[in-house]
Amino acid sequence: MSIKGEITPPGDKSISHRSLIIGALAKGTTAIRGLLESRDTMSTLKALIALGTEIKRDGELWLVHGDQFKEPCSIIDAGNSGTTARLLSGITASIDGMSIITGDNSLTNRPMERVIKPLEQMGAKFMARQNKYLPMAIRGAKLRGISYKMPIASAQVKSALLLAGIKGIGTTEVIEPIKSRDHTERMLKFFGATLDIIGTRIAIPGEQTLEAREVIVPGDPSSAIFPAVWATATKDSELLIKDVCVNPTRTGFIDVLKRMGADISIEDIKDIAGEKVGDAIIKGRDLTSTTIEGHEIPLVIDEIPILAVAAAFARGRTIIKDAKELRVKETDRISAMVKGFAALGVKVEEMEDGMVIDGPLELSSGAVETFGDHRIAMAFYILGKIADINIWLDNQECVDISYPGFFNAMESLG
Ligand code: S3P
Repeated sequence: MSIKGEITPPGDKSISHRSLIIGALAKGTTAIRGLLESRDTMSTLKALIALGTEIKRDGELWLVHGDQFKEPCSIIDAGNSGTTARLLSGITASIDGMSIITGDNSLTNRPMERVIKPLEQMGAKFMARQNKYLPMAIRGAKLRGISYKMPIASAQVKSALLLAGIKGIGTTEVIEPIKSRDHTERMLKFFGATLDIIGTRIAIPGEQTLEAREVIVPGDPSSAIFPAVWATATKDSELLIKDVCVNPTRTGFIDVLKRMGADISIEDIKDIAGEKVGDAIIKGRDLTSTTIEGHEIPLVIDEIPILAVAAAFARGRTIIKDAKELRVKETDRISAMVKGFAALGVKVEEMEDGMVIDGPLELSSGAVETFGDHRIAMAFYILGKIADINIWLDNQECVDISYPGFFNAMESLG
């Protein structure tokens, strides 16, 4: 089914988390406009309140009264949000006292040793279930800067270390194997921090003071991609996506879709609060297969489920590899996509680090298990729209993790 129209995606999830956290670090009152009010970002908001920050809504703004961190009296529940758990581990590592972080069934099975190890090297103490999972207790300390070569590309780990380093003694240096999303670096600079960035090496001097700012959160490209793929894969579609973040560490999916033959143009690019924001115009086209691998993976990591859906409608064999990190997201996203595809008649082969998809085939209606993962639910919903088949999702509420109102927004287009 083709679509025509215009949509403004909800606020960017990564930038929303960071605006709350960096606002809580800064001196003064930070005003946030366009904050994503979803389950994940509310986990961060509640956690910061438990850590002593005063946060209030004032009409369309969220006001964060920063620089008030204290030892929490209650256990911090990060819910389903890896960004909350990992970024706040960096914050609590420098709060004098003990903090305990836990999460839901999915988050308590996701790896935390990737933040525990470097933060321990900086001087914080951790006790975690099996030494690597939530719940974990953190005893904060005056941290020392370290030089840390990250074994995996992860913006959450990088951000935890930068947020810890900015309050520590000396310089913290983080070296990424491949560049990941850079919202933390951009926002810290916007709040007045000094950072030295050369390629994938970031150095942040400690004992810095941040000043409150007004942040305008742009639309989330990882949410915009759902209607974008719908429009791309259906002939005669034409869609305008307004005010979406076009930071190059997030728009890898546009390069992938263009390689597949998509007609996407970005217009009216502006600089807002340290981020690039623009409008995207998308027209329906016939798609062909591609390969997604290597350095491109961190730039499309959250978009792979819906890119795999695009591949199911593309002529030829699409290969997705080097994407083992997908196995430790909100669910094992390789396994979840392969199972869902198999239930609907998509020709797919599971690989340890990705999948191979042969398209396009005639698809049939069917039931899909989401494993409570928002991006799996939205990806299969869009597959149903493109193929004009019925998809029964076992869990629809999970979309509230990143895109409350998703189904109504999509219904208004189709
Ligand atoms: C995020 C980083 C990525 C991404 C997640 C959000 C962030 O996780 O998958 O949805 O906001 O920093 P990793 O750091 O684990 O790659």
